[in-house]
Formats: sequence, structure tokens, C-alpha cells
Amino acid sequence: MNNVLRMALVDPDDAARESLKKLLLGMDRLWLEAECSRYEFFSDVVAQTNPDIGVVGVDHNPRKALQLIEELRQTSPQCAILVVSRSTDGQLILQAMRAGVREFLTLPVGVEELMAALERISGQSEPGSSGRARRSNVIAVAGATGGVGATSLAVNLGCVLAARAENSVVLVDLDLALGDADVFLDTIPEHTLIDVAQNASRLDFSLLRRALTRHASGLYLLPRPIHLQEAQQVAPEDLQRVLGLLKATFSHLLIDLSKSYSPLDLQALKVADQVLLVTQLDLPCLRNVVRLLASLEELDEQLQEKIKVVVNRVGLGSNAISLRKAQETIGREIFWQIPNDYRAMIEVRNNGVPLTEQAPKASVTQSLVSLAEALSGQAPAESEVTAASLAGRWLSFWPGKAKVPGGG
Ligand SMILES: Nc1ncnc2c1ncn2[C@@H]1O[C@H](COP(=O)(O)OP(=O)(O)O)[C@@H](O)[C@H]1O
Ligand SMILES: [Mg+2]
Repeated sequence: MNNVLRMALVDPDDAARESLKKLLLGMDRLWLEAECSRYEFFSDVVAQTNPDIGVVGVDHNPRKALQLIEELRQTSPQCAILVVSRSTDGQLILQAMRAGVREFLTLPVGVEELMAALERISGQSEPGSSGRARRSNVIAVAGATGGVGATSLAVNLGCVLAARAENSVVLVDLDLALGDADVFLDTIPEHTLIDVAQNASRLDFSLLRRALTRHASGLYLLPRPIHLQEAQQVAPEDLQRVLGLLKATFSHLLIDLSKSYSPLDLQALKVADQVLLVTQLDLPCLRNVVRLLASLEELDEQLQEKIKVVVNRVGLGSNAISLRKAQETIGREIFWQIPNDYRAMIEVRNNGVPLTEQAPKASVTQSLVSLAEALSGQAPAESEVTAASLAGRWLSFWPGKAKVPGGG
């Protein structure tokens, strides 16, 4: 399920609102953008938060609630109204429908009934109708072995994507034991994945935001847990919900996987739209790529389409296997090549500053700029064009080159 629906909720009855919230937040694809205890304030809340769905509990005062619904039709016509009530009064249902309600749910609501209503609502708000259903791009970064550069790539790709005003980007560090994305971003996080995972079933926007650390580049980070023991406490279902909620608010979600291909990593692979499998041009790495491709594709057929092999540190040493040979060995195209630049990369890691800042003109940086563009289908920004074409030129000098960046 790709599109998460953002909702705002109103019910002046606190207990009813709480139980409504519990019911709705149990759904993986719902995101609570705002809640409100007064009918009078709700149309302003909707205007400000712009949710996909406005949920109105009408039983507290049906007359006022119907007035509100009519007002919402005028002020926020793009917001689908879902009414929740204990009443089965045909008159009330008819009035609600006339006022412009999209769905009327009678309590207690079954999960299937709720799912069907959400399906109908999202079906009608797909792009094209109002253009409101936003699609988040989920990119998982996996490695053929430790130290291939997966984190370097994930962090710097994140910073490149975050530099564009239209993007909002979050990076999840899923290397729960040894993850170091926080070091790359020079942050000492207060909250981590464990805080949100443990509260997954009652997670709301403010709690999630508090767990995220914002880097100066604009990239948000959800760091790995601090204590080793905490790593075991994150369940795949909790992660699924956390990722679902992040997809609701961010245009790009990057996930730096661990190298253990644990149930959590597999959950992330399932959620991902694209998987970058990072390797280097040596035998142990390429052998792992072959093994990983075979195992992962057996596990989930869809992964075959999603996985893109990225060769990192191209140009490192004269003993490297040629790209052509590598391609033959793994039996699939190499999607991208990232040049070797030891100095730039080590400075990035030690100084906690992204490549775009540390070495904006370096080939390695420009290769990542073009990669970001290829992955998200965004044309390069004006200032990026010259430099990106320079990076392409760099690679065209490379002997034994199979492909230029992004070519084909
Ligand atoms: N393109 C590159 N050129 C040179 N060194 C690199 C490159 N990419 C990564 N490195 C270096 O490789 C080491 C491991 O990188 P890291 O991102 O931590 O790998 P992983 O997350 O896969 O374990 C780091 O010291 C990093 O600076
Ligand atoms: Mg790493």
C-alpha cells in the first residue's frame, strides 16, 4: 500500500475521540495530522493542515456537526469527510450525505469496513482527480559486505535530495547495532528508533518529530538505538508502522540497512520502491552480490525489479575486476558507478559534513547528484548541470567502463 492518508479528527467528546483515534491509528496507512475538540475550530484546522480526510464524530452535537460539514465543503472541498456515529438513524445519514459526506461509518466499525471506506476515499483522491495523493519515494541502501560505502552513499544521497526545496527527506539508520549515520551527520541524537518503535501503536506526529534529528542540510535522521539490548526490542510490525508514517510526511525515505539481512532489513526491503545494492569490484563482494540477488529474489519476486547494483569506489587499485567482467559475473546491469575518492570520503566522515559541502565539485559528489536525479526522476537544478556533466566526463575516461553514470 503506497499512499498513506493524512487525516484530521474532530470530536468534542474526549473519550469518544480517544477511542476513535485508537481505531484509526491501528491502520497502517493512516496518519493523524491534527485533532480537535471543538467543531467551531475544525474548518480552520483543516485549512491549515490540509489533510486528505476529515474525520467528524457527530454524536456529541449532530446539528453543529452537520453545519461544520457544510462549511468544510465550501472551505476545503478537496478534503474527504468521513463521519463516525453510533446512530443508525436513516435521517441523520441522509442529511450527512446531502451535506457532502463521503463515508458514513456506524460504530462499532469493523476493520474490513474501515479499510473499504479508506480504499474508496483514496481511490477517488489518486493523482488526476485533485492531485493530492502524494507518493513517497522509498530507497533502501544495502551492501554486499561491511565497509562497501552503503552509509556514505545513503547519507550523502540524502543530503543531495534534501537540498531541493520541493523535497523533504528522512534517513532511517537500520544498522541497529553498529550504525553510524549520526557520526556522518555530526549529531548526538536524544531519541532513536527504539522510542518510536515502542510507541508504534499510538504514534502521532509530534512524537515522531521529536525522535528525528534535523541536520543543517535539511536531512532528517531517525538514528539507531543507543544500547545494544534495545536493538532486539524492535519488531518488524513496529518498523512497518514507523516506515508507513514516515512515508506519509516525507517525499523521500532512505533506509540504511544492516549487513545482517535481518527480519527488519527484509521488512524495509519490502517497503522500498528501489533498493541500491552497493558493491565494490572485488571477488568477495561480487560473490556476495550473486548470492544476495538469488536469495532475495527467491524471498520476494518483486525485489528483482527493485534492486539496482551500484559499484562504489570505481578506480580503486589496479587489481580490481573490470566492470564488464563484474557485469558478466552477476548477470545483470550495473546501474551506477561511484568513483573512488578516499580523501573526500574520509573528510566527510571525520568532519561530519556532507560531500555537497565538503567537496561540491568532486566527481564523487557529482556522481551522487546525478544518481539522486536518476532515482527520483527529478531534472537537475540549474547549478547542478555543469558539474554533473563533468562527472560524466570523468567516467568516460575510465578504462573498461561498462556504462556512463545513469546511461541506458
Ligand atoms: N567512493 C568512495 N571513495 C573512497 N572511499 C569511500 C567511498 N565510499 C566509501 N568510502 C569509505 O569506505 C569506508 C566505509 O564506508 P561506509 O559508508 O561506512 O560503509 P558501510 O556503511 O557499507 O559499512 C569509509 O571509510 C568511507 O570513507
Ligand atoms: Mg554503514
